[in-house]
Amino acid sequence: MPLARVHNLSISLDGFATGEPQSAEAPFGHAGERLHEWMFATRFWDSSGSAGLDDALAQRHGQGIGAEIMGANKFGPPGWQDDPDWTGWWGSNPPFRSPTFVLTHRPRPPVEMEGGTTFHFLDVPPAEALETAFEAAEGQDVRIGGGATVVRDFVAAGLVDLMHLVQVPIVLGRGVRIWDGLEATEDDYDIEAVSSPSGVTHLTFTRKPEGSVHG
Ligand SMILES: NC(=O)c1ccc[n+]([C@@H]2O[C@H](COP(=O)([O-])OP(=O)(O)OC[C@H]3O[C@@H](n4cnc5c(N)ncnc54)[C@H](OP(=O)(O)O)[C@@H]3O)[C@@H](O)[C@H]2O)c1
Repeated sequence: MPLARVHNLSISLDGFATGEPQSAEAPFGHAGERLHEWMFATRFWDSSGSAGLDDALAQRHGQGIGAEIMGANKFGPPGWQDDPDWTGWWGSNPPFRSPTFVLTHRPRPPVEMEGGTTFHFLDVPPAEALETAFEAAEGQDVRIGGGATVVRDFVAAGLVDLMHLVQVPIVLGRGVRIWDGLEATEDDYDIEAVSSPSGVTHLTFTRKPEGSVHG
């Protein structure tokens, strides 16, 4: 059965996946680039980067993925819905290369980009969005691409089969946390942690078979 997967979601020690305030100049607010420095250092991001543990795990991001679901705040800075020309942060050829579903309370018609990415805008509950994305993925897995709010909502709804988090040794103190309201998430998942020489900790949450919603 196809899976709903989260990959490379970087969080601080206190569980924040972004700082604040988010803006066009500072998409991650006061966190800056600190949550993703581990990833920028890998070959996954830059062909001259490292090829060790961080890279091996980062590479799973695209493997077997046929569609992505993301939140409105990942797609653009506050207010992007007022700009009819906004097509995301990623230029004319976004890295998703598959149908990409943006959850927003202000949907608009789909936008076809270069390289296989088409942005679709949905105002529906998580389960319905996932059903739509699975159809578009044609048998492949669906990536729940973030940000924190969307991942939290999908985990809370019992819709996430596999979640790879990368805990970065910084304390942000404020921003958007993934854990709020997710008490006892550990009961539903087998959890593995591995420390990387880079200083980050990779956490893999695999849904326990008896709790699986897809099979
Ligand atoms: N740390 C990481 O690895 C990582 C990964 C990805 C993104 N990020 C960062 O995380 C931040 C965004 O995260 P976030 O938690 O602020 O927001 P988000 O999860 O990207 O988006 C949340 C917003 O999406 C819309 N939405 C969510 N569910 C919906 C539904 N079922 N139906 C309709 N609309 C829905 C709502 O926006 P509206 O009501 O405005 O439409 C909601 O406020 C950005 O800074 C991004 O760069 C971090």
